[in-house]
Amino acid sequence: GRGVAMVTAVAARLAAHRRILEETLAPFQLTLEQMTVVQAQMREAMIRGLQGEASSLRMLPTYVRATPDGSERGDFLALDLGGTNFRVLLVRVAEGSVQIINQVYSIPECRAQGSGQKLFDHIVDCIVDFQKRQGLSGQSLPLGFTFSFPCKQLGLDQGILLNWTKGFNASGCEGQDVVYLLREAIRRRQAVELNVVAIVNDTVGTMMSCGYDDPRCEMGLIVGTGTNACYMEELRNVASVPGDSGLMCINMEWGAFGDDGSLGTLSTRFDTSVDQASINPGKQRFEKMISGMYLGEIVRHILLHLTNLGVLFRGQKTQCLQARDIFKTKFLSEIESDSLALRQVRAILEDLGLTLTSDDALMVLEVCQAVSRRAAQLCGAGVAAVVEKIRENRGLQELTVSVGVDGTLYKLHPHFSKLVSATVRKLAPQCTVTFLQSEDGSGKGAALVTAVACRLTQMAHV
Ligand code: GLC
Repeated sequence: GRGVAMVTAVAARLAAHRRILEETLAPFQLTLEQMTVVQAQMREAMIRGLQGEASSLRMLPTYVRATPDGSERGDFLALDLGGTNFRVLLVRVAEGSVQIINQVYSIPECRAQGSGQKLFDHIVDCIVDFQKRQGLSGQSLPLGFTFSFPCKQLGLDQGILLNWTKGFNASGCEGQDVVYLLREAIRRRQAVELNVVAIVNDTVGTMMSCGYDDPRCEMGLIVGTGTNACYMEELRNVASVPGDSGLMCINMEWGAFGDDGSLGTLSTRFDTSVDQASINPGKQRFEKMISGMYLGEIVRHILLHLTNLGVLFRGQKTQCLQARDIFKTKFLSEIESDSLALRQVRAILEDLGLTLTSDDALMVLEVCQAVSRRAAQLCGAGVAAVVEKIRENRGLQELTVSVGVDGTLYKLHPHFSKLVSATVRKLAPQCTVTFLQSEDGSGKGAALVTAVACRLTQMAHV
């Protein structure tokens, strides 16, 4: 009698919860048709960007014209700004080996979002510290600066910051040449002048570092704090750079894809919430659906919504879920890892101060899967657009190409990389794409860009 009624009531409630969960996650499940549309829109935006027409893709020329040929040699200094940390590196490129010594310096949020002068003063302090520790003071090694933000380049050693992205918003830098900002800080600090040879986006560094081992590597991809890609384009297709023969690497800045509203139908209410609460609302909409800085936030907003509907955590509005960035993207990787049983999912969430049932744990897992899956598929649609463009540029039936990849989300998430390549296989069947994980693309790659540039100028001087 009463027992049966209670069981039926519980079952009905669970069924209702399940239905709400499915409705909530439905907009994250992309159909093949939707992915094909993203690919086609990406392609159109690429072409408009290259031609200098209005486009959410900036398609920035990088003045990198060749991938390494293996003959590069020498000692180089490299700087890496744009992820969670700032790094200074000494890179020794010798025959058959690249040796790297690097030092990590943290950039506190107040530096990243405070005065630009102070940010660059801090950077110079770190460089001086590194030079002292390594016995390099007084030497001026050729330097490659991996600066992972959109820059308008007029040459290899000049880059005007168009706008900050990710967690950066330091004042007085946008519209300025990054090398000039660095030189001014050196002057203020009365430090020794640096020999800046190249400004390098992290995507370009990644492509170059994989290109050192594989000449087929013609694309670079980052899925870390932010996301972006670069690839080798025919110079004749690049309106803003004179010349008709040869190639040039283009920094797509694909994180901004959709900032003209073209992703509108894909964007969910949770994406809107994450965007609105960010330091750059309306900007980097594609990046906010894909990269490490934002996936945890999307999950948190979904969990909040489900809690408000009484579906999760017995409807108890937990204070902790209200706190921004509490749900780290690395939790997605941990929660989705097959080797961790659901019990450990619970441990992670209990650490956050949430008490949950086993149904809750399962639902949280499903939320994470839906969010990371969509991210990988969107990323795959982008890669498919790029490799297809390269194939058509060359008038080939079939293209074999490699993509150098870096970024913590891509490297640490248990399923992300597999899903990206599965999506590319579906959307670009005429391309055979190999993904290569780069080892320190930002450090080694910046040194290689510098080395190639030095090699070419030496040739010019001979
Ligand atoms: C952001 C930056 C871009 C960079 C990417 C990955 O999208 O704007 O330049 O390549 O993050 O770090």
